[in-house]
Amino acid sequence: MCGIIGLTKKTGDSVKDVLKGLAMLEYRGYDSVGIAVITDNRRLVVRKGAGDLANVRKRLGLDELRGRTAIGHTRWATHGPPTDSNAHPHTDCRDEIALVHNGVIRNYASLRDYLEKEHRLLSETDTELIAHIIEDGLRHGKSLLESMVEALKKLEGSYALAILYKNEPKRIYFAKMKSPLILGMFDGGSAIASDIPALLDITRKFIMLNDGEFGYIEPDEVSIYRFGSEGSFYKIDAEALKNRIKLIEWSPELASKGGYPHFMIKEIYEQPQALSDTYNGLAEDPSLKKVAEVFTSSKRIIVVGAGTSYHAGLIFTYFMSKLTKKMAIPLISSEFKVLESAINDGDIVLAISQSGETFDTLEAVRTFKRKGAKIITLTNVVGSALDRESDMTLYIRAGPEIGVAATKTYTSQVLALELLVIEVGRGLGLLSKENYKRLSEILSRADSYIQESIEISDPLAKYIAKLMNNYKGSLYVLGRGLGHYIAKEAALKIKEISYLHAEAYPAGESKHGPIALVEKDFPVFIIATNDSPEIVGNAIEMAAREANVWILKPSDTELDIPDNERIRTIDLNSINKNDVLEPFIFIPFFQLLSYYISVAKGYNPDKPRNLAKTVTVE
Ligand code: AGP
Repeated sequence: MCGIIGLTKKTGDSVKDVLKGLAMLEYRGYDSVGIAVITDNRRLVVRKGAGDLANVRKRLGLDELRGRTAIGHTRWATHGPPTDSNAHPHTDCRDEIALVHNGVIRNYASLRDYLEKEHRLLSETDTELIAHIIEDGLRHGKSLLESMVEALKKLEGSYALAILYKNEPKRIYFAKMKSPLILGMFDGGSAIASDIPALLDITRKFIMLNDGEFGYIEPDEVSIYRFGSEGSFYKIDAEALKNRIKLIEWSPELASKGGYPHFMIKEIYEQPQALSDTYNGLAEDPSLKKVAEVFTSSKRIIVVGAGTSYHAGLIFTYFMSKLTKKMAIPLISSEFKVLESAINDGDIVLAISQSGETFDTLEAVRTFKRKGAKIITLTNVVGSALDRESDMTLYIRAGPEIGVAATKTYTSQVLALELLVIEVGRGLGLLSKENYKRLSEILSRADSYIQESIEISDPLAKYIAKLMNNYKGSLYVLGRGLGHYIAKEAALKIKEISYLHAEAYPAGESKHGPIALVEKDFPVFIIATNDSPEIVGNAIEMAAREANVWILKPSDTELDIPDNERIRTIDLNSINKNDVLEPFIFIPFFQLLSYYISVAKGYNPDKPRNLAKTVTVE
């Protein structure tokens, strides 16, 4: 996730609007910033650097630049750490094109292989490659539009692009695939941006672009194209475009959250995009294969993480055992001393941390490293402390998460970890070629499964939150096997956001103690994963004590649930018994439930009391 913006005007200056827009887009990324502008004497000037907007603006004198056509970018690193050279815009070898990008190019490695033979590559980014592919087209006498089309055909993954071309000083070219991009129209100019807030000061008139659309804007023209058959392309006619213009009336406060009342709900709804970026980023990332090779030949794997990251780690241990027959030992970071004496130089430590800065996880990693273990990190933040201190790193590419509750980063972590598991399974020869391909294909659609689950869960969560409005007691979230691990994350969400005591434990444990607490109307949520049909028995024993039981299950899971007014069933999406999809279909309900309870009680779900987004103290 990054923020991009571009403006082209008949007269006057666009740079100050680009800078204003970048300030509004900083929530999408803030590790480096850059702008490109075509000056009135037709020079293409690029200034960019690592740091947030305020810092780069001052350091590089961005406010001094002037020009009618300008683009800007605020970055959230995915390929290459946040450095000056990795900051956008990126240029071609002849400095004729400047390009900004939001998204992840999946076939990065193969594109880089062929481009670096003939081009001078200055960064580690996937974005720079696009500038050089377009350059190839120009060198062959094609127009910029044709060259861009040729480039788009070569790209796999997600992108929102804005491109300046020195020889066409009034135009900004654009293209969209699976990353957000909108056009704005105003008197004397046109604009492009990742989202509406960036342009609200300038216009309320927008066209929302669809995937697969590309084209250019000029001060008094908007041209949108689509691909036709066999690689041809055609222009969408003016009348059709007129019908797509929308007038948006948002307050600036609402606008910074993309129209959502809180970042948490926005981030819950961003999960399909986050999963698509995670998949696209990792599917062909050579690092995934390298890490998998390390795991394949390892004796022992210790998985460390805190809070939600630990819960993602639990799911990793489950699928490692199931699909690779390898034992991975989960460990809460702050408890690292429990295993400290046993760690030695044959061990592999997988550290999971959204922020990459969590004190406890860093302490665990530093201690285990001193004892000779090899450290592999999974994080969302390129260049974070954990990233720097690890032997190898994988990135989830979920984009910045502002709400204190981990939502989209959890599901992205789970997807990344499942991709790693199947890679290890393939390496060990335990997953046949067909099985590996099938699982990989299923995981490539995790984004649409979570989308469906969010749609199904939202009204149900809202309804149950209402029922629980005056409830102040405890509740249980139960599961067995994989369901228990998902339940742990579900209970954490309810605790931290709704301030209700929620406990998750393996349902089989009920009779060994916890059922003593159950009395009339005690809420019990049951996560019925495919691996544990016996959980119906646990539901019955809870209902017999007059608990209010909600069984959540995939709609295609058949369970023998008796007629009992104390047991209600929530059917989520059907997943064809593919358990790798279960975390994505169960968790949105609990994220939404905790959110709606919090809102109904008048709490702030984005900033739950006593909690910080990143815990950098012991
Ligand atoms: C989850 O909603 C919490 N915010 C918290 O448990 C969090 O997951 C934990 O502090 C770990 O953070 P990290 O992933 O940045 O290391």
